[in-house]
Amino acid sequence: MKVLSVVGARPQFIKAHPLHLALKERAYHVILHTGQHYDREMSRIFFEEMGIPEPDYNLEVGSGGHGEQTGRMLIGIEKVLLKERPNVVIVYGDTNSTLAGALASVKLHIPVAHVEAGLRSFDRRMPEEINRVVADHISNILFAPTHTAVHNLKKEGIVQGVYLVGDIMVDALYLHIKVAEKNSIIRDLGLKKKGYVLVTVHRAGNTDVEENLKNIVEALTELDYKIVFPAHPRTKKALERYGLLKTLEESKNVMITEPVGYLEFLNLLENSRMVLTDSGGVQKEAYILGIPCVTLRDTTEWIETVEQGWNVLVGAEKEKIISAVRSFRPTEKRTEIFGDGKSAERMANIILSLKEAGG
Ligand code: UD1
Ligand code: UDP
Repeated sequence: MKVLSVVGARPQFIKAHPLHLALKERAYHVILHTGQHYDREMSRIFFEEMGIPEPDYNLEVGSGGHGEQTGRMLIGIEKVLLKERPNVVIVYGDTNSTLAGALASVKLHIPVAHVEAGLRSFDRRMPEEINRVVADHISNILFAPTHTAVHNLKKEGIVQGVYLVGDIMVDALYLHIKVAEKNSIIRDLGLKKKGYVLVTVHRAGNTDVEENLKNIVEALTELDYKIVFPAHPRTKKALERYGLLKTLEESKNVMITEPVGYLEFLNLLENSRMVLTDSGGVQKEAYILGIPCVTLRDTTEWIETVEQGWNVLVGAEKEKIISAVRSFRPTEKRTEIFGDGKSAERMANIILSLKEAGG
């Protein structure tokens, strides 16, 4: 059986790895990188550190407007699919690479499996929400990470081909945490365990709205805590554009760095006293590692983390951010809401059973 994964953005390399390991002995797994992310720190570092095999194809589409970027991906993915003729195409998450992968495949009548199906923020101004909704409605196999995701799909009339498998990011975290714990980044950056707050920002709603980014920067610089901020290239560019980069660089408490590899990031997260983020993946990782999470958004797809008392939504409001960092202290016990770290095995079994069924 031939399975083709479409990846392109940082979290997709991380998500594809456990599934690659579960598939590699039992199927021919082709990896197609769209090139959506291309800086070393956003792409290559993950393949090198995690031992993910070199992609079989890299379309090198690079950055651009949504239409331009997605269009270039569609053209390139279609060509590869016509050549490779896989039995199944796997797409991950909610990026433009996810949308293009699903759309190119379904038009060629190649079954699509969507990893992280059924997630909803119910905010259609987010490009990711559009990508999720469309990808779910054109996918044949929907791998839902949580009960909430299954429920969301049902509300949209999607019940066939839905499998509750758990979250693949738990698999990835369990796979790499032991090695990550030996990473030297804390020492290299001169940090103390639990002596800093970790920050990531990259959502359009924060980077492309000057007032929001300004509020976040002001909150960070007014806090009395040491802050470590590995900045996504999009955010770095926006900080420069709005004249805010200098403010951070000259501040006493904020250390702004390049984006770091997965092992470094897990180490930084596990040893932090708290994380401030607008990332989807980081909210889950914080929950799994028991790190309080302050989310710089008004909505989240990972609502369970909020319901369980480990995540608080503060948007981009300066006072709310400052107050949450000072006073948010989760007390609830955490449960296994994202699964047991064996979701890749379940997904591989389901994908491979399609062949037996003549799929
Ligand atoms: C994308 C996804 C988002 C995901 C995120 C993971 C979409 C619509 N968004 O957001 O869902 O959470 O990836 O990190 O697909 N850039 C570089 N170098 C790179 C990559 C990007 O400089 O290697 C800069 C470019 O200026 C680019 C901007 O970042 O225009 C945004 O990149 P893009 O891939 O369009 O979106 P992300 O914000 O990364
Ligand atoms: N991550 C990383 N280095 C960083 C920031 C994040 O390796 O500097 C990892 C993080 O551990 C998580 C994933 O990237 O697994 C999240 O990706 P991102 O926040 O870019 O996207 P999202 O999850 O919001 O789609």
